[in-house]
Amino acid sequence: MRLCIIGTGYVGLTTGVCLAHLGNHVICIDRDADRIEQLKKGIIPIHEDGLAELMEESMVGERLEFSKSFSYGVTNSDVLFITVGTPSLSDGDVDLTAVKEVAQDIARCMDGYKIIVNKSTVPVGTQKLVTGIIEKGLSSDTGFDVLSNPEFLREGNAVVDTMHPDRVVIGADNMEAAKVLSGIYAPMGGRIMFTSPESAEMIKYASNAFLAAKISFINEIANLCEKVGADVSEVALGVGLDSRIAMDFLKAGLGYGGSCFPKDTRALVRFADGHGCSLKLVKSAIEINEMQRLRPIQKLKDSLGQMAGKIICVLGLSFKPNTDDIRETPSLDIIREIKKLGGRVKVYDPKAMPNARKVLEEVEYCTDAYQAARDAHALILVTEWEQFKKLDPVKLKKLMKRPIFIDGRNVYDADSMIELGFEYYCIGKKDYGWPGNAK
Ligand code: UDX
Repeated sequence: MRLCIIGTGYVGLTTGVCLAHLGNHVICIDRDADRIEQLKKGIIPIHEDGLAELMEESMVGERLEFSKSFSYGVTNSDVLFITVGTPSLSDGDVDLTAVKEVAQDIARCMDGYKIIVNKSTVPVGTQKLVTGIIEKGLSSDTGFDVLSNPEFLREGNAVVDTMHPDRVVIGADNMEAAKVLSGIYAPMGGRIMFTSPESAEMIKYASNAFLAAKISFINEIANLCEKVGADVSEVALGVGLDSRIAMDFLKAGLGYGGSCFPKDTRALVRFADGHGCSLKLVKSAIEINEMQRLRPIQKLKDSLGQMAGKIICVLGLSFKPNTDDIRETPSLDIIREIKKLGGRVKVYDPKAMPNARKVLEEVEYCTDAYQAARDAHALILVTEWEQFKKLDPVKLKKLMKRPIFIDGRNVYDADSMIELGFEYYCIGKKDYGWPGNAK
């Protein structure tokens, strides 16, 4: 099939590369000319395991091209995928500007029947909205169908998730068009599910809201565990082994971040409010998450008292491991709060420092975790990168001015850390008499 991907972010680029890998001819277009120039040279603007290899293979095989020309992409393809961003507006509503502009551009360039597939996360009703915009903008009476096909890939795991989906959701008014799209996905396996466009659009928001609520639920239970001497890891295992609940997304920590959960939960709440429906559970999940990420600050205040002049080492800037993405990451909120209280911050992250430098000034960027820990009065582990799981605690302790270790992702063994002389705090386990862990 001849496919066009409109928008080369995480979703678009990964989808385009994977579909080219499966033998389709794919043109990826983007209005960002610099990005297209880089991609033409094989330079990927995001960090995503396995993507570079697949991209090179498809470029060499001439199944994958990049262009900044909208009309070139549209006129040379049968199926067009909309994969542009749908960021948050300041009031939490979703900003559909990019989707609407793409719909207008498609209408302007269409030279025959096309299937238009929306993969961007959009509220219910957007398939109809896009259909209306294209109808209005068409200069000929060319036919077309707009399908809703939400994307569920996780950053850092994008290639594997795309190639091996749990399910493919296709929301369509026209089954003929839906069958064409299902044929494109068939080689990937996974259950293909046909729904109305409205249900497909809702499935994406409901999935993200459910997962966000699951994380906030276990974080709330974790906070209670601390008070009553239970251990949230044991609780999560015991709860998750119930097949109705399942183990995934029951890891307590500093809460969720990233480009999807925070934005999509806010958008869903606003959308529901607009329909006179208050989503109390989702609102609570958001509130719990906002409080959870700042738990280390209370711990710092408990132990250090005044923060002014204190050096705090923050390990991890990306919102999760294996990505350089810092969107809505807990680290930024934690660092900004420390600075507000007068503390100095030293940071290290294996991949996210270039992105952080664009938005975060007046922190000391270090070359590794040990350099970041030197002279620190406290260390906060925010992102559970593999290399942060294998640090040498004895070496860290020697380097630090005061061995306060706030383990925001429950990576280390509490008893061993306390035995080594750390003032150690983690999430959802008895607090061992914090501050100072007096036994
Ligand atoms: C998510 C969804 O998983 C994906 O289906 C959707 O398409 C986009 O949003 P992503 O944002 O890439 O993907 O990250 P994910 O791996 O789902 O993690 C989201 C956040 O939840 C991270 O901040 C992570 O640290 C946090 N998390 C996840 C927890 O705190 N505990 C968990 O048990 C799982």
